[in-house]
Amino acid sequence: MSASESSDLSLDFLRVVEQAAIACAHTMGQGDRRNSDRVAVEAMRAVLDTVRIDGTVVIGEGERDEAPMLYIGEKVGVPHAKGATTGVAGLPAIDIAVDPLEGTNLCALGENNAIAVLAAATRGGLLHAPDVYMEKLVVGPSSKGKVSLDAPVSENLKAIATSLDRAIKDLVIVVLDRPRHEQLIADIRATGARIRLIGDGDLSAGITAAVAGSGVHAVMGTGGAPEGVLTAAAMRCLHGEIYARLVITKPEHEERARAMGITDMRRIYTSRDLAPGDSIIFAATGVTDGTLMKGVRFFGDGIRTSSVIMQTRPHRIRFVDSIHVQNDGKTVIRF
Ligand code: FBP
Repeated sequence: MSASESSDLSLDFLRVVEQAAIACAHTMGQGDRRNSDRVAVEAMRAVLDTVRIDGTVVIGEGERDEAPMLYIGEKVGVPHAKGATTGVAGLPAIDIAVDPLEGTNLCALGENNAIAVLAAATRGGLLHAPDVYMEKLVVGPSSKGKVSLDAPVSENLKAIATSLDRAIKDLVIVVLDRPRHEQLIADIRATGARIRLIGDGDLSAGITAAVAGSGVHAVMGTGGAPEGVLTAAAMRCLHGEIYARLVITKPEHEERARAMGITDMRRIYTSRDLAPGDSIIFAATGVTDGTLMKGVRFFGDGIRTSSVIMQTRPHRIRFVDSIHVQNDGKTVIRF
């Protein structure tokens, strides 16, 4: 993507995540995570097909046979829409990673930090990762290069504290609240660092770890590999870092990874490895209230959304507060 193509597409991708977030925000608290995810996927797919790209989903809702829409390999964009008359000639070939609703449970239960997410890069700019678990360590810019996935937890926390010029006890580490993290949680507690246990959503937690002043200093533990690639795209824009390794526990995991071109199952990836493209776009809209973005607010004749749109070329981060007017001439615009 040239700088001008990228900046035009950033606003298109903003529309995509805004509409996905609005669609599933209507289902907030209904207790039906599948329905929340379904409406987000449908809305995202519909808007993606209005974007002038020759797009390919590389991280999506699953393999073709298990996801009706936004499956891995699906073509998206204007030339691929139903009844399209436009060909791909002249349109940029873009790889897309999506998580139409990151935190399906969070939305279904009305809890904080559910977001709608998309990352894009020119073809080949995002790793095709299988839908398996991934060990992750996400830190902000000052701790980049000073921690290691293989180092003891206490050493990593010491390095993070030193780079942030504070005591270990003043750190906040986010960890997914899962039985598999029992030892990790015990190790963090032993250092005196503070912990925020989250029910879901290690992607939005990872983004906050890279933003100074968010009150989160690192994310540790095992979560989804697709979320890891999306985190890497955000880190490329925010100068933070993710250290990650696939968790391959079954022969079928290895088969899936090999089919996607991965040969070294023990490799530790960084953001550059997971999202190597020169020109990366990352867009997210809050579905429910979160640390960096508010959730979708409906006020009768209008809808307000809070989003972040980040790019590497031109390198900029925009926080976008949109009012979607629904009753033109009558909607009251509030500050
Ligand atoms: P969904 O949005 O698909 O529900 O995933 C949420 C999430 O919490 C991710 O943020 C995280 O990476 C993954 O699930 C963890 O998986 P698991 O719930 O199996 O521990």
